[in-house]
This record gives sequence, C-alpha cells and structure tokens, in this order.
Amino acid sequence: MDPRADSPIGVFDSGVGGLTVLDECLARLPAEDFLYFGDTAWFPYGDKSADQLRGRAEAIGNWLIAKGAKLVVVACNTATAAALAHLQTRLDVPVIGVMTAESHAAVQSSRSRRIGLLATEATVASGSYQRMIHAHDAGAEVTAVACPGLAPAIQRDNPFDDEIVEMVRDYTAPLREAGVDTVILGCTHYPMVERLIRRHVPADATLISSGEEIAREIAGTLARQGMLAPAGREGGYEFACSGDPAAFRTIGSRFLQMPFGDVQQVDPGIADGA
Ligand code: DGL
Repeated sequence: MDPRADSPIGVFDSGVGGLTVLDECLARLPAEDFLYFGDTAWFPYGDKSADQLRGRAEAIGNWLIAKGAKLVVVACNTATAAALAHLQTRLDVPVIGVMTAESHAAVQSSRSRRIGLLATEATVASGSYQRMIHAHDAGAEVTAVACPGLAPAIQRDNPFDDEIVEMVRDYTAPLREAGVDTVILGCTHYPMVERLIRRHVPADATLISSGEEIAREIAGTLARQGMLAPAGREGGYEFACSGDPAAFRTIGSRFLQMPFGDVQQVDPGIADGA
C-alpha cells in the first residue's frame, strides 16, 4: 500500500457546485478523507478567460497538494475545460476532471442522437463537450446552450424564485425546439436545480451529470495506484473557501444536507498558468 493512502482527496470548484460531486464521493468512497475548496472570491468562473482559470486552478492545486492531497478532483466543468490538461502536466498527483464520462454517457443514452448541453459561457465557448461527444459519435447533433447567470442564481441565498424559473425556461427553449432526448448538465451547480430543469426539457429526456461517474473514476485511479484508504475506516471531510466562510457554510450546508463544520478562509494566489 502506498504511504499516501491515508491522505485526503482534494476537490475544488468555483463555489458550491462541486458539492454535487463531493456528495457522490462521500457516499461511494466512505473510507476516504476529503478536503473541499470553494473559490468563492473568484466566483463565477463562467465569465473568466482560459488563461485566468489556468493560473488560478494551478495555484489551488498546489495549495491542495501542500495540504497533503493524494489526488485532485476538478469538480467544475469550466475549470476542467480550461485547465485540466495544464494541471495534469503541472501537478505531481493524479488529476481527475469532469466532462469525459458525461460525454460518453450521453452518447450511450441517446437514441435519437440529439443531445442537449447546458453549461457556462466559458465551457460552451471552449467547444470541449462538442469535441468529446463527436469523438464518440461524429454524427450526433449537439445543441449547446450557454447559461450566463444561472450558476450565480443558484449560489445566492434563496435560489428558488420566479427569476430562476424564467431563466431555466429560456435556456431550455432551444433544447425543446431541437427535440433532444438527452441533456448534459454541464456545470456542477445545475444538479442543484435538477427538478426545475426536468420540468422544462422534453418529458422523456435523460439528464446526465458528473457525480456518480467521477466517484467511480476516482476509486479506479486510487486502486490502480495502491492509494485507496484502508476499507472499514470512516473518512472525514473539511472545507475551505476564498470568500466569506460564513456565507459559504450557510449555502453549502443547505445543499450538502450534512454537518458542515468550520470553514477555513484561504487565498491560494495565482500561478503563472503559462
Ligand atoms: N460549477 C462550475 C462548472 O461546473 C462553474 C460555475 C461558475 O463558476 O460559473 O462549470
């Protein structure tokens, strides 16, 4: 067994969205310890440039490793699209991102080969999902919709009001017009309003999100490297963020629905990202 087996898994997102990934990981990998970082001072990532996101993601990765992380999970589609490859070359622990597994799952689930994507502006503009889907099925028709403002609306104090309903109705309109039968929730914040989205996409559409697949990928990677925490132990989890810890704790615990503990405030800085 690798001596790092007892070390935590580092997870990060621009805010609370990555909790939808952490939630699956806590259920599927109960022996592991997790350290979650929400980059709330930089939120939202969706309107940042790829260069900015690479520099910030590298600094966060370095901070997680300095805290002992044996593996880093980029629990954010926007950061994955901009910085996954960069992190994999810069960090000396395995780095796992979202997107690949969802693209594959979407192609497998679609019978009509009409696939919808809801994601941030930066993720849609990167073209990453479109490329990954077409790598599995070059003939699949992808309707990609950028949803500016949706992640910030989810991450505020009370997301459930008429404004968010209107936003979801508008952003899903192209998916209804295209008659998609599969919809990728291409931002880790969006599963938090899954019920709302479900009401506005075609009734038989399958919604695909990242949590479950990522937990499986983490388990496989740790097993191959002999870094799985010893079975039978009960892991723990802790939180840090770059913005206001009290606000992060309030919103985060509402979504996680588990005890949250203290939140440490940290500024990881910016790496050169080049
Ligand atoms: N949760 C993030 C994602 O998966 C991004 C939201 C944002 O910061 O704009 O894309």
